[in-house]
Amino acid sequence: MNIQQVIDDINADVRSRLSQFEGAVASYIPALAEVDSEQFAMAVHTVDGQTFSTGDVEVPFTIQSVSKVLTLTLALQRYGNSLWHRVGKEPSGTAFNSLTQLEFEQGIPRNPFINAGAIVTCDALYSRLSAPTHHMLETVRWLSGNPRVCINQTVSRSEFQHRHRNAAMAHLMTSFGNFENDVEEVLKVYFGFCAIEMNCQELARTFGYLANRGVDIASGERILTSKQNSQLNSLLFTSGLYDAAGDFAYRVGMPGKSGVGGAIVAVVPGQFAVSVWSPKLNAFGNSSAGLYALEQFADRLSLHLF
Ligand code: DON
Repeated sequence: MNIQQVIDDINADVRSRLSQFEGAVASYIPALAEVDSEQFAMAVHTVDGQTFSTGDVEVPFTIQSVSKVLTLTLALQRYGNSLWHRVGKEPSGTAFNSLTQLEFEQGIPRNPFINAGAIVTCDALYSRLSAPTHHMLETVRWLSGNPRVCINQTVSRSEFQHRHRNAAMAHLMTSFGNFENDVEEVLKVYFGFCAIEMNCQELARTFGYLANRGVDIASGERILTSKQNSQLNSLLFTSGLYDAAGDFAYRVGMPGKSGVGGAIVAVVPGQFAVSVWSPKLNAFGNSSAGLYALEQFADRLSLHLF
């Protein structure tokens, strides 16, 4: 299969209609509202270490909720299955920042990919790591192959200033006894993780381990056990795109994770990780052009898992 040719074709197709995709850039985080919406990039990182990329691949963006996969990875390394006492494994069927379910379900978030679930996972990490931000950055620099990957402090601060909804979730979890640390301190860590900045090519490389049975492709080092890696991919399949996970499973047929910065990462187990980035979001908070591109990619290369 000629991956480069396929993604170049998709880039040309998407670019010719970039202004027509539905939605708008995320504006509930003011610093994100300033990003030029008419950009698109796509990259593939194969388990034999090849990278293919197209479009605006040099442009860095904040990975936002895609970081929730890394947060879960670091927490699984430390807690194993005991993490699941604090966060569930079920699809939420509600928006990524919904508060209602959290009260009905006694402060246990449905899954680690909605905001409440990632925040409680950050709290768990905060309890076990003396410098969680430093540790996360070291991990991301290593996995992405770029030692200069950083947190975009403008975006992180902007998120902290507008933290009320996420803070409400953390306080609610505290009231149910499912939070161990100071809410504001954990939120600073969580927003820092969301504001990690990298380009599309680095994003595909970072998540290569998900396609490679939990082993980092470049170094050969194990990140997760093979079983944990399978389990994480299963959860991405059922919950990675929030209340649009079913639509993504139907259209693209791969485990995936989106973020409000406009990135989506998807995994073809045993073959590659594929990333797309385009900042305009649909009503579910997922990149419209990114979804279209991944659907084309899955169709062109017959990658739907079923
Ligand atoms: O906490 C937030 O709302 C953002 N930092 C991340 C949300 C996000 O990316 C949801 N993804 N579609």
